[in-house]
Amino acid sequence: MDLKGATALVTGGSSGIGFAIANGLMAAGANVAITGRDQKRLAAASQALGAHPILADVSKEPDVLRSYRELFQQFDHLDILVNNAGFGVIAPLVEMELASFERVFATNVTGAMLMAREAARHFIERKSGNIVNIGSTAAVRGAAKGTAYYGSKFALRGMTECWRAELRPFNVRVILVNPSEVLTDFYATAGLPQAAENPTKLHGDDIAHAVQSALEMDDRGFITELTVFATNPKD
Ligand SMILES: NC(=O)c1ccc[n+]([C@@H]2O[C@H](COP(=O)([O-])OP(=O)(O)OC[C@H]3O[C@@H](n4cnc5c(N)ncnc54)[C@H](OP(=O)(O)O)[C@@H]3O)[C@@H](O)[C@H]2O)c1
Repeated sequence: MDLKGATALVTGGSSGIGFAIANGLMAAGANVAITGRDQKRLAAASQALGAHPILADVSKEPDVLRSYRELFQQFDHLDILVNNAGFGVIAPLVEMELASFERVFATNVTGAMLMAREAARHFIERKSGNIVNIGSTAAVRGAAKGTAYYGSKFALRGMTECWRAELRPFNVRVILVNPSEVLTDFYATAGLPQAAENPTKLHGDDIAHAVQSALEMDDRGFITELTVFATNPKD
């Protein structure tokens, strides 16, 4: 597809990977709206990007419905949904609190589903569209302490396959992008240590590049799943 003049909605575009994806799409000439829950962070990001801000929590159905109302007040159609909003709780199974587990699934799984459902209704009508789900290498193999986060990304990967099967007849491309470790706020939010500067680890821009490349392929085809590793990461 040609990104020039296309319209994209990036959830969690106020930080990290989502911010970088929004930035890349805008540089390629797309009109972009970003979502997030923290008003200050969203305002700062949308100003820096020149993107349209939508203050919304993807895990809340009324917020999702309002997001699309606000989007279509600003833009007359949507071409690309990037389901990027997400976070992790990393804890052993025996210490897993129900509330933490449900919070992760509410955003990473239910939120992605709600956002995709509304996009799919629009895309089916237009017989055209793209859904990019930001998975993780946590979507392809399990690990200790991964019950909530890895489980949610496995679920996202499963939904990706279902949506792909349902939506291909309407010319909708559903793509999963699986980053390995990227230098963002993700680790701090999950209560994990991460050095801020490390030239051997991935940046948001690397994932943005992968997303953009996948989208720019001719609409005749698409890459179903794309995994991005750092070449030789050092701690
Ligand atoms: N960083 C990594 O190493 C890594 C690796 C693989 C995959 N990923 C995935 O990449 C995606 C982005 O993560 P990141 O690394 O860029 O982390 P980040 O810097 O913490 O960004 C997360 C973004 O999601 C938003 N968000 C979280 N929950 C939300 C909700 N319920 N509704 C709306 N927005 C929400 C946050 O804004 P608010 O808090 O203001 O809502 C923020 O903009 C996630 O899906 C993550 O699982 C990250």
